Parts: sequence; structure tokens; C-alpha cells
Amino acid sequence: MPSVSSRADSIAPSPIRKLYAAVARQRDVRFLELNIGQPDVPTPVELTAALASYKPPVIAYGPALGTPACREAAAGYYDRWSKGVTASNVVVTTGGSEALLFAFAAVCDPGDQILVPEPFYANYLGFARMVGASIVGVRARLEDGFALPSDEALQAALTPQTRALLFSNPGNPTGAVYPASELARAAAFCRRNNLFLISDEVYRRIWFDEEPPSALSLAGCEDLVLVVDSLSKTWSACGARIGFLISRNGDVLDRVGRMAQARLCPQPMAQEMAVAAFALPDSFYEEMRLVWRGRRDAMANALMAIPGVVAPIPTGAFYAMVGLPVDDADAFALYLVERFRYRGESVLVAPGSGFYRDPVDGQREIRLAAVLDVARIERAVSLIGRALAAYPGAM
Ligand SMILES: Cc1ncc(COP(=O)(O)O)c(C=O)c1O
Repeated sequence: MPSVSSRADSIAPSPIRKLYAAVARQRDVRFLELNIGQPDVPTPVELTAALASYKPPVIAYGPALGTPACREAAAGYYDRWSKGVTASNVVVTTGGSEALLFAFAAVCDPGDQILVPEPFYANYLGFARMVGASIVGVRARLEDGFALPSDEALQAALTPQTRALLFSNPGNPTGAVYPASELARAAAFCRRNNLFLISDEVYRRIWFDEEPPSALSLAGCEDLVLVVDSLSKTWSACGARIGFLISRNGDVLDRVGRMAQARLCPQPMAQEMAVAAFALPDSFYEEMRLVWRGRRDAMANALMAIPGVVAPIPTGAFYAMVGLPVDDADAFALYLVERFRYRGESVLVAPGSGFYRDPVDGQREIRLAAVLDVARIERAVSLIGRALAAYPGAM
């Protein structure tokens, strides 16, 4: 029998999905799912209407970089934060995921490294592995709200193989927002060390205190910056599989363009949804943020009521990284699935270990996603409190 390559050997199963085997074995229990970032917020009707009106005689390939209408609409949207962005700066991709893969492949050769504040979105590990690069984590701390690590800490992680600094802002899994001053510090660090800055902005419109700036707006950094965006979260259209890579660096765009041609094109019908999304009025974003703010508040307040729990209040995205009074959060997550029941319900959470390079660093944390309505979030978090009170491994 021919043997497979070793490329995927070190890609761990998704931390979020790995409890599902145990979930599948359970009977007579309803799970409140706070474990995955799949919002239950309805997709705006403008997007579904755009999809429904797509009725060509032939569903043909589109242009490799995206349809002109979609790229123009995206450029008009980004021009609001960064004057002068044009369609030529925008590549439409199959989700933010493909934009990340293209970004990594465009800036890294095999053996190269990407610095990422840790904890981080677990799939970065897989994308890096696919292109033969690796992720080097730089610890951010729950105690200081997962702020961007200091220049000294970033510097200490540098090697001759480092090619880029990457983060999601607002952060998954942390819910932290890097303000303009921190973004400028990150950019200055990249400039000093000749690194690209890959800014994953798929949650950028979901913020509660201070609007996170786009890295596209960093003056004098046009050659460094690659921005990743997506239709998935802001417009609640995860299944549309439309994302964007935006850059002003001609070499990056050239490399990404070659890769984009090799995979032919992003799906034209889904790009119709993106055109509709970018035409939505500002009131859409305000209302969307209010929904997420209500959920953030509900989650933060309910967490505060649980003894021994430490959780920075998220200032963006829809996640919270939560420190628990247990010494093995993986075991606690499994306890919720297999043992704990209250009035026929339990909760699914994502163990924190999957968001760190070394699982031990996250062994007392879980990540919650506020993807249910307020009443169910309150109920789910109160169930976590009840479960901790009953849990034999609680400290
Ligand atoms: C930080 C971050 N980046 C990128 C993605 C990928 O999003 P998509 O491929 O659905 O656009 C996700 C999805 O959860 C995410 O959380």
C-alpha cells in the first residue's frame, strides 16, 4: 500500500469538534452549544435574496481574483477606513480560511515562522502546516485581558526564519481588541524587524467599547500589511464561504494572484451575497453590534456570579476565554458532556488547551462563544456554575 505524506500528522483534531464523539454517545440530554463560533443570528434577507436571484443559464467559472462587481464593492467598503483602496487591492477567497492560507503561502517558504500572540485561533496551526511553515506562540495573559505581548516578548521569539506577525483583532478566542496605539506598536515592530503584518479582521465590526482600527489604515505600512476579512461573522453567513485578502503590496498580490488562478475561482453565486452585504446601510452594523453586546453582557454578568471563575470582559468578537477553578478543563468539558445534567440539559464548551501550542498552557481555561440568545446564554453559564459546584475535580 502506498504511504501518505507526513504533512498533516501534526495537525491536531479541532479542539472544538473533538468532544463530538462523546456527544454522539449521549441520550436524553439537550446541549446548549457555546463551543463553536457559528452564530444563530439570521443572515440578512438582502443576502439570501441576492443568492435566490442568481439564475444564470450556466453556472460558469468566474475570474480568479473575484468578480469585478464583488471586488469593486469590497474596495468601496474598505475605502471607508483606508482611502484609496481599489478593486486591484482585493482578492476574493473561499472564506477567510483561504485568505489566511494564501497569506501564509505568499509570505512563507517551508521552514519559515509566523509569530502569533497566544492563545490563538487553532486553525492557524493547520494552515501554517499546509505550507510547511510553523506558528510561534508569544504568550498573552488572561490576567491582563490578553493584551498584545510586549515588544521584548515579541523580540525574544524572533528567529532568522520569522516572516510575519499575525493576530486576529478582535481576538478569537480572547475577545480582546487591540486599540490604535497597540496596532501602531505592532506595525513598528514589524517595520523594525522586516516582517509582514497579517491582520485577521473577520470580527472587526463586532466591538463594544472602542472600534478596532483596520491595519489597512496604518500610515506608512502599506507594504507590510495583509488584511483578512470574511462574510462569515459580521454578516452571519459562515456557509457562504466568502472571504477577502486585501493588501497594497504588489509582490504579495502577484503571488496570491498566481495561487488564486491555480484554484480557478471563488464561487460566483456567493459573491452576489457579498455585493449585497457591502450595500447594507450603517444601521445594519449598529443593530448587529447591539445584538452581540446584549449577549456579551449576559455572558460576562453570569460568569461574574460563579465563584472562582476569572474572565476578562470581552471588548470585541463574541468569545470569552474563561479561567476555571479546575486543574484539567478538558476533563471538565467531558464531564459536562457525559455526566452533568440539570433538568435534562448540559453545556458544550471548547477546552482552552486547543488554543495554545502547548496544551498545558490552556489546561485551566475554556472558551465560550456567545452564539445563542440571551436567555439561553444565561442558562448555559448558570449550568457551568452548577456543574463546577458538583464537579469532583473543582479546586
Ligand atoms: C479568527 C478567525 N479567522 C478566520 C476564520 C475563518 O473564517 P471563514 O473561513 O469562515 O471566513 C475564523 C472562523 O471562525 C476565525 O475565528
